[in-house]
Amino acid sequence: MDKHYYIVTYGCQMNVHESEKIAGILRGLGYEETKEEEKADIIVFNTCCIRENAENHAYGNIGALKKLKRARPELLIAVGGCMTQQEGAADRLRKKFPFVDIVFGTHNLEDLGRLIGLKSKKKKVVEIVEGKNSVDGEDNDISYRTSYPNAWVNIMYGCNNFCTYCIVPYVRGRERSRRPENILAEVNALLDSGYKEITLLGQNVNSYGNDAGGAFTFPSLLRDICKRKEKFRLRFMTSNPKDFGEDLIRAVAENEQICNLIHLPVQAGSDRILRLMNRKYTAAEYLKKVELLHKYIPDCQLTSDLMVGFPTETEEDFSETLRLVKEAGFSTAFTFVYSPRSGTKAAAMEGQIPDEVKKERIMRLVELVNAQTREKSAAYAGKTVEILCEDYDEKKGLYLGRDEYGRMGYFTSEADRVGEFVKLKIDETSGVSLFGTIVKP
Ligand code: 5AD
Ligand code: SF4
Repeated sequence: MDKHYYIVTYGCQMNVHESEKIAGILRGLGYEETKEEEKADIIVFNTCCIRENAENHAYGNIGALKKLKRARPELLIAVGGCMTQQEGAADRLRKKFPFVDIVFGTHNLEDLGRLIGLKSKKKKVVEIVEGKNSVDGEDNDISYRTSYPNAWVNIMYGCNNFCTYCIVPYVRGRERSRRPENILAEVNALLDSGYKEITLLGQNVNSYGNDAGGAFTFPSLLRDICKRKEKFRLRFMTSNPKDFGEDLIRAVAENEQICNLIHLPVQAGSDRILRLMNRKYTAAEYLKKVELLHKYIPDCQLTSDLMVGFPTETEEDFSETLRLVKEAGFSTAFTFVYSPRSGTKAAAMEGQIPDEVKKERIMRLVELVNAQTREKSAAYAGKTVEILCEDYDEKKGLYLGRDEYGRMGYFTSEADRVGEFVKLKIDETSGVSLFGTIVKP
């Protein structure tokens, strides 16, 4: 009988991509995907711990499997990812959910196959590797990709920055860059097989190569990838403003394949808070980089990550975040309520902000960001944009795809357009969505 897997993913795009690697491993063992939990022979949770609610989500859903496991003891349940990599987490997990069969961390994802094999001999398999400093999955792209025409490619792992609120450096380890020739081989193979959009992933892509003594840099990697002359899009995330420099801006400006959309998380607008966060830039320095970006690339758009309720944040600090959102002109932003993460510096700081205050601030921030996003979308009406068609929405009966700036455009078509670049004249905008008609070339 066929064996089936079911993967539940939480968190960032790095995790989404790592779930593609997990899927690749499971397929190598003869499993096929199922969309129904009840039909699975193995359920894998790929977890996140960046904020408390991400953890609570995972805890809730793992807990809910107790019944299924009791009814079908042969069902394998595996939990991996950032949550399990935290200090003491594997023990806590074992106590709370004794029915979980396999626990693995962020550094030994590629061992999952071996761990499943071990499980047939042991009652329970728990393996968390600490401080691994090699580059995972360096030479073989094992991913089972499901996001055609888009593909994610890891260029580096880990983070050295230790922003005081952030758990990532603790669960992902120090920065390790993949060799450029391996990245190029992976990207070239993807383009050869028809992928049209590549997103390079790293916690801090601007410090790519620093761990190799600067033998290669992020701008040089971008330039090398852009030597391919066919039409495709290149994106990257995430950039850290402190290392976001002129040479990178030049590389983006020079190469038309690189989308003119930069995700540049600022977090806060108050210099005092930025210092407490250990971000290593001021609001003015951030805005200078934005200005430089627009000087080289006038039609560039900017998105960001913003956080409210960091310890000691006053109303005045918060209003500086609002001011910066307007000044930087973000076309959209991800907004977060600060969540204390055990083991980080900020979690131990005095002056934690009450939940009601955080809630009230996030509402005001979201309102401002949404208004700014709507305003930018409305400006699309009547314009022609090029989108990369990525899917067909059965419910709406429309094809959809994103423009260079990440806006979703919808349209009707007789022919299947998935994987094609399509020019749309925008007839109508609604929230962040664009509705258009194909422009015949
Ligand atoms: N609480 C809230 N938001 C956080 N982020 C990182 N750590 C925390 C935390 N402890 C946000 C930052 C980061 C994004 C990926 O998640 O804004 O840029
Ligand atoms: Fe976390 Fe800062 Fe590293 Fe980003 S740069 S992963 S926010 S420590």
